[in-house]
Amino acid sequence: MKIGFIGFGNMAQALAAGLVRSGALQPEAIGACARDPQKLRRNTVAAGFRAFDDAASLVGFADWVVVAVKPHQVAQVLTPVRELLTRKIVLSVAAGWTFERYEELLATGTHHLSTIPNTPVAVGEGVIVCERRHSLTQEEWRAVEALLGRIGLVMQVETHLLSVSGTVCGCGPAFVALFLEALADAAVKHGVPRADAYRMASQTVVGTGKLQLATGEHPGRMKDAVCSPGGTTIRGVAELERKGFRGAVIDAVDAIEDD
Ligand SMILES: NC(=O)c1ccc[n+]([C@@H]2O[C@H](COP(=O)([O-])OP(=O)(O)OC[C@H]3O[C@@H](n4cnc5c(N)ncnc54)[C@H](OP(=O)(O)O)[C@@H]3O)[C@@H](O)[C@H]2O)c1
Repeated sequence: MKIGFIGFGNMAQALAAGLVRSGALQPEAIGACARDPQKLRRNTVAAGFRAFDDAASLVGFADWVVVAVKPHQVAQVLTPVRELLTRKIVLSVAAGWTFERYEELLATGTHHLSTIPNTPVAVGEGVIVCERRHSLTQEEWRAVEALLGRIGLVMQVETHLLSVSGTVCGCGPAFVALFLEALADAAVKHGVPRADAYRMASQTVVGTGKLQLATGEHPGRMKDAVCSPGGTTIRGVAELERKGFRGAVIDAVDAIEDD
């Protein structure tokens, strides 16, 4: 099975790296095309991926084609290869490109699925939110789910929830990175070497997330479990509440969704 990326920027490279790192695909089974050929070669050759001059030759190489250009470029990039895509599985990662939009753009009968992944797929810890509505066969969906499952948690959502789910998972790493930086800055302020501070902060986030996934525990109860009465943690929690931490996070998602 060969997978081809139309557009090879941050998201496509994270997916390609994750697929190789997980052992799901060999590098030579991955191809890509992009606008700037020199940049494309820099991003592909060293990793062992195949670089293609245009979308048509990439589609000729690939069994599955991943649409990974910016949302406003999707129509312009896919229109010339519309007919070639009828024999492929088309996976989109472009924000805002739902099943209905692709039905208007792609040739009738094209097998396609809209997803929103996030960059932690590069280390096998991503989330890949998939629109429940798609035109893959059951067998194709199972194969896609199995492959994407190698690089993250695959979740199906209804069309009207694809955008907000994509925002939480796709933009979430930026929010979490801000929190990591802040937590590490606080550690550095109190004397912890910076590299150690990042490692401590990151593992705290990873561990808390894994604990929640493993137990299904309510986040409020997880917080309570760390806050002993009259103890130190609750003082920190109270300060975060005073600064509107939760409201700020909710406002951040609103700022994207209400745009
Ligand atoms: N980054 C994320 O965390 C994230 C998360 C979820 C979804 N997404 C989605 O992923 C898609 C890509 O985002 P990104 O962050 O990876 O963007 P990016 O880093 O800017 O990459 C865009 C890629 O598209 C290529 N491209 C532009 N015009 C092209 C053309 N005419 N033909 C072929 N390739 C062309 C660019 O090539 P050049 O560099 O040569 O111009 C580049 O490789 C977007 O639709 C976004 O909504 C991203």
